[in-house]
Amino acid sequence: MATIKTLGLSKTYGTGESMVKALDGVDLTIEQGESLAIVGRSGSGKTTMLDCMGLLMRPSSGAVIVDGTDASTLNDGQRAELRSKRIGFIFQEFNLLPTMSAMENILLPLRYSGGDRKAARIRAEGFLEEVGLAKRANHRPTQMSGGEQQRVAIARSLINEPTLVLGDEPMGEVDTDTANALLEFMRRINAERGVSFVIVTHDLDLAARTDRVIRLRDGHVISDERPSRQLVQRPAARGGSLDAALSQVGNGFVDAALPRRG
Ligand SMILES: Nc1ncnc2c1ncn2[C@@H]1O[C@H](COP(=O)(O)OP(=O)(O)O)[C@@H](O)[C@H]1O
Ligand SMILES: [Mg+2]
Repeated sequence: MATIKTLGLSKTYGTGESMVKALDGVDLTIEQGESLAIVGRSGSGKTTMLDCMGLLMRPSSGAVIVDGTDASTLNDGQRAELRSKRIGFIFQEFNLLPTMSAMENILLPLRYSGGDRKAARIRAEGFLEEVGLAKRANHRPTQMSGGEQQRVAIARSLINEPTLVLGDEPMGEVDTDTANALLEFMRRINAERGVSFVIVTHDLDLAARTDRVIRLRDGHVISDERPSRQLVQRPAARGGSLDAALSQVGNGFVDAALPRRG
């Protein structure tokens, strides 16, 4: 089943003279476990697209179908519930609460989803371990580097075990090495748990390392391509040992000898 699907997705801001058609009939299907980058110039509709897909905004027309549920049939409360259970967000500025520890920040989405706190805490400890921040659970964002804060933000996006994680320029505020590390972590989660990722990015090198890249212009998808790097091997099993998954992910991607398109 598709993780998310948009049908004729359109969004218009304003009226009359000041009307802007930010999205104009976008049909997009993202399969479970697919990682996708959205690229395009400033003003091309990327953020609007992500906000509609994340059920943060209602489109002017068209539909967003999340795991088989047409969100346009839901009221605001039901949309919020679907969002908190299925979709994780990574924001550009991380949006960590400064007065809270890393652990508390990671557990924040539980407030909205009402999930099992104890189980979530165990998951959070696992994530902190995975991203090399096990000793930082009680540190506040101000005591952490940008890269570390970003890893906390990613752990937070995953805490409710979403099927889809959306990031609007999540690498915008960090250096290239950190951005690369983030991408590797996302790929690992993607391969290991089958979580779909959709990230908006300006960085074409980063975009080329996802499964699929779509380009927006004036609210239209003008290209939809699969970069040359191909996944040739997936870690054995969902829920298998992380070390096994890690070692395989390290070797699991090859640069197919295809010229890069676009
Ligand atoms: N709240 C808003 N009110 C009016 N126009 C908006 C609003 N948000 C975005 N737009 C316009 O919609 C278009 C798409 O914006 P956006 O989705 O933010 O693009 P991107 O993220 O690619 O820069 C732009 O022309 C932008 O100016
Ligand atoms: Mg934007």
